[in-house]
Amino acid sequence: MRTVYVNGEYLPETEAKVSIFDRGFLMADGVYEVTSVLGGKLIDFEGHRVRLERSLNELDMQKPAAFDDLLDIHRELVRVNGIEDGMIYLQITRGSAGDRDFAFPDTETTTPTLVLFTQNKPGLANSPAAKAGIKVISIEDIRWGRRDIKTVQLLYPSMGKMMAKKAGCDDAWMVEDGAVTEGTSNNAYIVKGNRIITRQLSHDILHGITRAAVLRFAREAQMEVQERPFTIAEAQEADEAFITSASAFVMPVVEIDGVKLRDGTPGPVAARLREIYLDESIKAAV
Ligand code: PDD
Repeated sequence: MRTVYVNGEYLPETEAKVSIFDRGFLMADGVYEVTSVLGGKLIDFEGHRVRLERSLNELDMQKPAAFDDLLDIHRELVRVNGIEDGMIYLQITRGSAGDRDFAFPDTETTTPTLVLFTQNKPGLANSPAAKAGIKVISIEDIRWGRRDIKTVQLLYPSMGKMMAKKAGCDDAWMVEDGAVTEGTSNNAYIVKGNRIITRQLSHDILHGITRAAVLRFAREAQMEVQERPFTIAEAQEADEAFITSASAFVMPVVEIDGVKLRDGTPGPVAARLREIYLDESIKAAV
């Protein structure tokens, strides 16, 4: 049985409890991070920590008392659960004020809830999907206007995944005003020749930690990076497409709305970026 962390305690997963009045449960008033573990070490921990702090600030949410111990808590969970490859999920909510009220509770009396748990995924970096590529459909992006804050409001992304599944695909790319914003749980890219194109940072998309690293490595490898919106039609005509996230790393996309790219086979640019990303992040892992 997993050992999980809840508000200062390491407990068997069946004993960890959060109040029914917790605002994460009642209002989706919470933020989260997913950090991957490879070879027992944390990938891009500092990037996730900094983004978490930003999400809290943007929502006027207090930091939990243990905020400065987050690295130690992550490492302890990896250790006690014997995680070689997998993910650590972290969630902070505004806590429980003991009742339901739209107004934020008094921070003197209501403390944030902090929960972490591990997900064991042996061979995470060698998933078959990375070799075969994934198929995506496009759906309208009807999420709220602050997608740069990593909140736990994931109902529409979950519905998007289900729509993709129903269509025999793996994921959905969301489209707003004719242009792709991002995938349901990842950032979206196309490749044209030596150029990598991905939507610029704004309130419209999550500022992916993997995105930042991959774009840095791409520039270092003399690839051209263009941060701008692109359409589904442009993507269907691109040389390659791919997604990035903490759990998928760099993952090739081989079909978009039924149109195959490169006859449905992953391309060399995505493969090269995946290799560089994995090599460099494993080297820098803590
Ligand atoms: N999702 N965009 C969205 C909407 C996301 O949910 C995610 C991450 C990303 C990629 O960000 P990063 O590279 O920092 O993981 C982009 C995580 C993995 C999840 O919800 O499981």
